[in-house]
Amino acid sequence: MDGSIIHPGNRAPRQFVYPGPMRLSARLPPSFEPNALSARLSQLRSEGRPVLDLTGSNPTRCGFAYPEADLRAALSAPAVLGYDPDPQGSQIAREAIAAHHGHSLQAGELLLTASTSEGYGLLFKLLGDPGDDVLVPSPSYPLFDWLARLEGLHARPVPSYFHDRWHLDLGALEAAAGPRTRAIVVVNPNNPTGHFLSRAEWSALTDLCARLGLALLVDEVFADYALEPPADRLATALLDPDPPCPVLLLSGLSKVAALPQLKLGWIAVRGPGAAEGLEALAFLADQYLSVSAPVQAAAPTLLALAPGIRQQVQIRLRANLAALDATLTAHPHLSRLPVEGGWSVLLRRPAVDEDGACALRLLERTGVLVHPGSFFDLPGDGHLVLSLLTPEKTFRDGLGRIFPCL
Ligand SMILES: Cc1ncc(COP(=O)(O)O)c(C=O)c1O
Repeated sequence: MDGSIIHPGNRAPRQFVYPGPMRLSARLPPSFEPNALSARLSQLRSEGRPVLDLTGSNPTRCGFAYPEADLRAALSAPAVLGYDPDPQGSQIAREAIAAHHGHSLQAGELLLTASTSEGYGLLFKLLGDPGDDVLVPSPSYPLFDWLARLEGLHARPVPSYFHDRWHLDLGALEAAAGPRTRAIVVVNPNNPTGHFLSRAEWSALTDLCARLGLALLVDEVFADYALEPPADRLATALLDPDPPCPVLLLSGLSKVAALPQLKLGWIAVRGPGAAEGLEALAFLADQYLSVSAPVQAAAPTLLALAPGIRQQVQIRLRANLAALDATLTAHPHLSRLPVEGGWSVLLRRPAVDEDGACALRLLERTGVLVHPGSFFDLPGDGHLVLSLLTPEKTFRDGLGRIFPCL
């Protein structure tokens, strides 16, 4: 037997040498170094030091009582064994999602995705060419930068301003729009500010988009979590049945049912060109068919279970907000911003040091993790961001430890 043929070690000497490390796309970050806060957190955890985390946004780790038997049953129904892919997503799942939203939303106006993040990827591919940009009123969800950049687009922040409540700066948005701008991306209610668009803002924003030929992306993952909503809030973009610009609404089970692990998101398309947009989105989705058949089959049951889960979340958000308000009464130099909706609260503190340094200091001295406002592009150094999803005792204990240090 000739042992020289197959063994890779017996190859002829290599003639070509690949130059250096693997060449990576310029769309990626130049380094994957964690920031100072994450690095310190990992270090503390690796040393077994306990940390009170006031930033958690993963509902499956926050002590909610999920209807386990019903969830398991939904995910093991006979239908989960079949596979009849529809690039738009199964009719049965889309009908359940349309019914969840109401406002005459039709199954035909929806396309399913494996998450809201994937929805952004599809929409950026749909709307832009490399080098184009989208405008993002800031502060906002920090992932937009990367979601856009990975599709070859730039997410350009346009500061909103706070005056009693948050306001979009419509003049600044108009001034920022250039020849390569394709869309505006708003989060309603916003993460982390909790700002719901007012109805007047909606009408001005959709008019602006129509005038400038832009699409409007509206992320409504937190729309079911109104906490201190102003009377004129836009509860959902679906209240507008016939917007003057293309409106692409994103949502998903990760917040609607507090089930991020099931990986089901969706996009609703309305306004001019909706049918063509959906057809093109279905073409894009068809290249991946990334939404699992089991979660689509289970979607009607999951959405039927969602109100019970959301109710627990609502109770938690309100309890933590009340605990924060009670603690604040003893610390008049600290305050919080109104929480119109969502899962976060902005704590305001005297900006005596840089907010990242403050978060690091709190972690070192008190073992409590909070996020600096600058993680979300909040202006100045006077904001810390806390998650209202935090288990109540952890939240109270964490406040008790950090307040004396602020
Ligand atoms: C505003 C916003 N949009 C989207 C997402 C991501 O949702 P998904 O898990 O569906 O990708 C989050 C997650 O926190 C979010 O805050």
